[in-house]
Amino acid sequence: MQSRRKLVYPILCSVFIFAFLSVTWGGEISKGKFYVVGTGPAGPENITLKALEIIKMADFILCSKEHSGPFLKYFKGEIIEDVFDWLWQYKGKSFKDLNEEEVEEYLVFRDKKANALVEKIREKVNQGHNVVLLEGGEPNIFSQCHFIIERYGSDEVEIVPGMNSFCAANAAIGKSIIPAYDSQFVVLTAPFLISDNMLESIAPFSPTVIVYMGMDLLGDLIRKFKRYFPGYTPVAIVCHAGFESKEKIIRGSLDNICDKAGSNNDFMCLIYIGRAVVGKPFTTFQEGLSIYLRRNKFFDE
Ligand SMILES: C[S@@+](CC[C@H](N)C(=O)[O-])C[C@H]1O[C@@H](n2cnc3c(N)ncnc32)[C@H](O)[C@@H]1O
Repeated sequence: MQSRRKLVYPILCSVFIFAFLSVTWGGEISKGKFYVVGTGPAGPENITLKALEIIKMADFILCSKEHSGPFLKYFKGEIIEDVFDWLWQYKGKSFKDLNEEEVEEYLVFRDKKANALVEKIREKVNQGHNVVLLEGGEPNIFSQCHFIIERYGSDEVEIVPGMNSFCAANAAIGKSIIPAYDSQFVVLTAPFLISDNMLESIAPFSPTVIVYMGMDLLGDLIRKFKRYFPGYTPVAIVCHAGFESKEKIIRGSLDNICDKAGSNNDFMCLIYIGRAVVGKPFTTFQEGLSIYLRRNKFFDE
């Protein structure tokens, strides 16, 4: 009897320690993760292997109906929300058509929706699930997902990079974007960020300018550029870059690109402005260099 009593105490302690460790370690082990995955500009051929693996192991997916189509065959998890469906819409209208009062309401609505979504994601992750938000192209360039990411600590979300649409468009143009003649930098921008002040100050450096989301404002954009850049400055518009069957390039100059583009206001286009789009900058550089060398400038000193 005495010896049995001696055994009860260590057994109870072991059971208690085991139960405690299962709860704490078990909880840790079973926690899932929230990923934001860049899917590249043009379907599964342009996604990275890492991004595809994460999509395949996702338990829950947030994506736009519009751009998730080609990836559906890789989904094993459940689509829980089309974030992009409500992000730019309010009361059946596009955010662009809202009046001032509606804009105020829309911002409050968006904030509430975003908070609810973050709660939903956290809940799933805490239950041990992997939640994946798909973002077209690269998640850190003109992406829509940062209004969600910013609500998380950096240790709570993993961003998986993707190919940006300008990589695919560069390949379509087939020219060196930088170096490009006398261009000293590349500018990635959008119409709503371009001011007269900005154009006036960058024009002397002949940059290669790449404009996102610009087609519905093409006329205004080109008029603005012509105030500071010569009319013969080359322009190329690359639409659906990376899509084998849909890719299209419209080429021209500031003087004639609007006529060439006609009524095309396709959202999926990038507008390139600068000499890079026509050139062979290295050949030009070498030609310039040989003239320079022949003049013995390098050897004078
Ligand atoms: C909201 S931004 C998203 C950019 C995206 N995060 C990226 O890395 O490419 C959408 C804009 O990207 C550009 N874009 C996206 N995919 C494209 C493609 N395949 N071809 C040309 N432009 C594209 C267009 O200018 C479009 O208006």
